Amino acid sequence: MRTRVAIIGAGPAGLMLAHLLHLAGIDSVVLEDRSREYIERRVRAGVLEHPTVELLRECGVADRLDREGMVHHGVVLRFDGADHRVGLTDLTGRSITVYGQQEVVKDLVAARLATGRPILFEVADVALHDLETDAPSVTFRHADGSPGRIDCDFVAGCDGYHGVSRPSVPEGVLRVYEHTYPYAWLGVLARAAPSHPELIYSAHERGFALHSMRSPEVTRLYLQVAPDEPLADWPERRIWDELGRRLAVDGFTLNEGPLIETSVAAMRSFVVEPMRHGRLFLAGDAAHIVPATGAKGMNLAIADVRRLAAAIAAYAADGRTDLLDGYSDACLRRVWRAQHFSWWMTSMVHLPPDADPFSERLRRAQLHYVAASPAAARSLAENYVGLPFEGADEQGWYEGR
Ligand code: FAD
Ligand code: DHB
Repeated sequence: MRTRVAIIGAGPAGLMLAHLLHLAGIDSVVLEDRSREYIERRVRAGVLEHPTVELLRECGVADRLDREGMVHHGVVLRFDGADHRVGLTDLTGRSITVYGQQEVVKDLVAARLATGRPILFEVADVALHDLETDAPSVTFRHADGSPGRIDCDFVAGCDGYHGVSRPSVPEGVLRVYEHTYPYAWLGVLARAAPSHPELIYSAHERGFALHSMRSPEVTRLYLQVAPDEPLADWPERRIWDELGRRLAVDGFTLNEGPLIETSVAAMRSFVVEPMRHGRLFLAGDAAHIVPATGAKGMNLAIADVRRLAAAIAAYAADGRTDLLDGYSDACLRRVWRAQHFSWWMTSMVHLPPDADPFSERLRRAQLHYVAASPAAARSLAENYVGLPFEGADEQGWYEGR
C-alpha cells in the first residue's frame, strides 16, 4: 500500500490529523491496534478548550458537539469550606466545553469512515522503518493475521505514551524531561445528575477532589489517591464517602448513583525533544504527557496535529519544508506553557503526602490569591480556556477581545 502519511494511532491526535489531511486533499492510512468499539468507549478527558472547539467547528465535525456539549463560563475553586468562582468568560471573553473524549473520537471515526479513506483497526506488530530516508515504511499485521506494509512520505506517531513510535527513534536522539507527582487520580463515572452546574476543583485537607460531568444524567468525579493505590481498596461506598467529605460545603449535596466506570490514572509530566526524527513526527501523548489537573492533554494533541497537517500540506502543495522544520519548536512552546500551567494547578490543589508546614502555607497563599485577585484569576482563566494557537491575534486574545 502506498500513501502520503502513515498515521499510527486513532486517538484524538491521529484521527484529527487524518481529517485535516483529508480536508487538504492529502491521503493517509490510519493504523490502530485496538478495536473501534474499544476506542469509542475508553473514558478519558472531558474539557475542550475554546480553540479546540473552534477548530472542530471549522473542520465540520462539531454538529453533535454543538448539540450535546456543555458550555461552561466558569469553574469553582473550593477550599476552607467556601466556593470561589473563576469567571472564565467574564475574565477572557471565552468559554470551555465539557464533551467526553470518547465522543470526540466517535465523531472523528464517523468522519473518517465517511471519507472512504482507510482506517485499519486491530492491527498488530506495527514497526517503523527507514525513518531517516525519504522513503519510510510501516509494517504490521492486519486483524486477520495477514502481513501489511505501507510505503509513505511521512510517519505520524500519534500512538500515545505506550506506543511504538517514540521507541522507534534511536537511543540518544531524544532528550527526555520528566517529573512524577506523589499522587494519582481515582476517576469514576456515575449515573447521577451533576451536583453543581460547574466544575469544582476542591483543595481539601484530606486531599484533592474534582466534580465534573458528561451530561445532565452523568457525573464525572476524581479523588486524589496514592500513586500505587489498588482499586480493590475502593469499594463504591468508600468512594462516595470520601467524595462527600472532600466536596462538603454548606448547602451542597453530592448526588450519588451507580458507578459506570472506575479507574486510576498516574500523574506525570513528560516531554521529549525534538518531536521529530527524520520523517517521523510525534504528536500528542506520544511526545508529551501533562498531569490531568489543567485538562490540557487532549487539547495539546489537537494543537500538535493542526500544525503538523499545515506543515505537510505546505510540503505537498509546493515542496516547502520550513513548516516541517519548525514543527517541533513551535509545538514545544505550547507544550511547555501547558506543562507549566498543569504543574502549577496540580501543585496548588493537591495535598502532597510529605507536605511540610512551610510549603503548605505557600500553597494556601496561592489559593487565596487566585480567589481574591482578578489578575491572578485571569491568568488561570486564560490558560484554562486555551491560549491562541498562534499568530497575529494573540494580543487581542490576551485582552479578552
Ligand atoms: P491516545 O488517546 O492515547 O491515542 C493513541 C492511540 O494509539 C490509541 O487509540 C492507542 O490504542 C493507539 N496505539 C497505541 N499503540 C499503538 C500501536 N503500537 N499501533 C497502533 N496503535 C497504537 N486528559 C485530560 O485532560 N483529562 C483527563 O481526565 C484525562 N484522563 C486520562 C486518563 C488516562 C487513563 C489516560 C491514559 C489519559 C488521560 N488524559 C486526560 C489525557 C488525554 O486523554 C490524552 O492526552 C489524549 O488521549 C491524547 O491523545 P492522543 O491521540 O495523543 O493519544
Ligand atoms: C475533567 C478532567 C480533568 O482533568 C479536568 O481538569 C477537568 C475535568 C473531566 O474528565 O471531566
